[in-house]
Amino acid sequence: MFARITGVGGSLPGNPVTNLDLVRRGVDTDDEWIVSRTGIRSRYLADPETSSSDLALEAARSALLSAKTDAAEIDLIIVATSTPDCIFPGTSCLLQAKLGNKGAMAFDVQAVCSGFVYALTIAEKFIRAGGTKKALVVGAEVFSRILDWNDRSTCVLFGDGAGAVVVEASETPGILSSVAYADGAHHAILSVPGNVCGGKVIGDPFLRMDGQAVFRFAVRVLFDAAEKCCANAGISPCDVDWFIPHQANVRIINSTAKKLGIPPERIIVTVDTHGNTSAASIPLALSVAVADGRIQRGQKLLLEGVGGGLTWGAVLLEF
Ligand code: ACO
Repeated sequence: MFARITGVGGSLPGNPVTNLDLVRRGVDTDDEWIVSRTGIRSRYLADPETSSSDLALEAARSALLSAKTDAAEIDLIIVATSTPDCIFPGTSCLLQAKLGNKGAMAFDVQAVCSGFVYALTIAEKFIRAGGTKKALVVGAEVFSRILDWNDRSTCVLFGDGAGAVVVEASETPGILSSVAYADGAHHAILSVPGNVCGGKVIGDPFLRMDGQAVFRFAVRVLFDAAEKCCANAGISPCDVDWFIPHQANVRIINSTAKKLGIPPERIIVTVDTHGNTSAASIPLALSVAVADGRIQRGQKLLLEGVGGGLTWGAVLLEF
């Protein structure tokens, strides 16, 4: 019995916001700096009324439609997010209510940019263990809410969005291998350190990052995770049809792919137009490449992420 992706969907709020638009909004930056350092040309930013569960709902509906599945048939909902609608209940439960599903197990995963890879790995374990037949796995973020718009070294990097997949128990091959890791010793190089206590925000409520430390760490662990994940399935990373990495930065993506021997024409890149949408970035990239026909049924896909925690992981699957 395999866990197989049967539907894919994505959602982006509003219109693209270009690098020049950020300059016009008062960010002390320029297009050349952002493009040469990150490859990012635009991102989507949600209006203040739009929450992660709203974006998740749109992505989930489109994934359910493509899987020809009714929301009532879903028996597991996992939402990966670091920008939940509220402290509790989970964004997964809010999504469940919006979908009109009753009774599915629903919980959130907090593994930042690795969240989708973690959530997909968990869904696969539930399906393989028996009991769960159809899971909805979503990555949804409104990272614009946790950005310090006066910190040009971070605010230009991120965007908002959601991506979703339906994963079903199937005799046709699906997820072939997955790995997931964390090392909390590195928690300080990428964090939102603030908290809510006694009705007040205590500490810093914005994303802080040591960009160069994250860069070095990311390339090393993404290479390692891809090697281990593929080795478990007896294939080499350079044999996959498509590499769909977390979309943080084209330089991280290209350095990792080069080390793995994966040529540029087999990498799905959306960071240029979406920015870094954290847990949403991988399913969003997947949905774009399925919709435009690049990704076909039967192809081997290697998904991988790295993020705050630090956390990282990879999933190899036959689509
Ligand atoms: N526009 C113009 N200048 C800027 C900007 C900006 N947006 N941001 C920083 N600068 C300036 C700095 O002030 C500094 O100027 P100075 O030399 O006069 O002091 C100069 O650019 C260099 O700053 P650095 O921070 O050293 O820039 P660096 O070359 O390291 O690039 C970057 C920063 C793009 C963040 C890089 O470190 C990186 O790619 N890191 C990877 C981290 C990443 O992608 N994180 C995403 C989230 S984590 C994740 O998803 C896994």
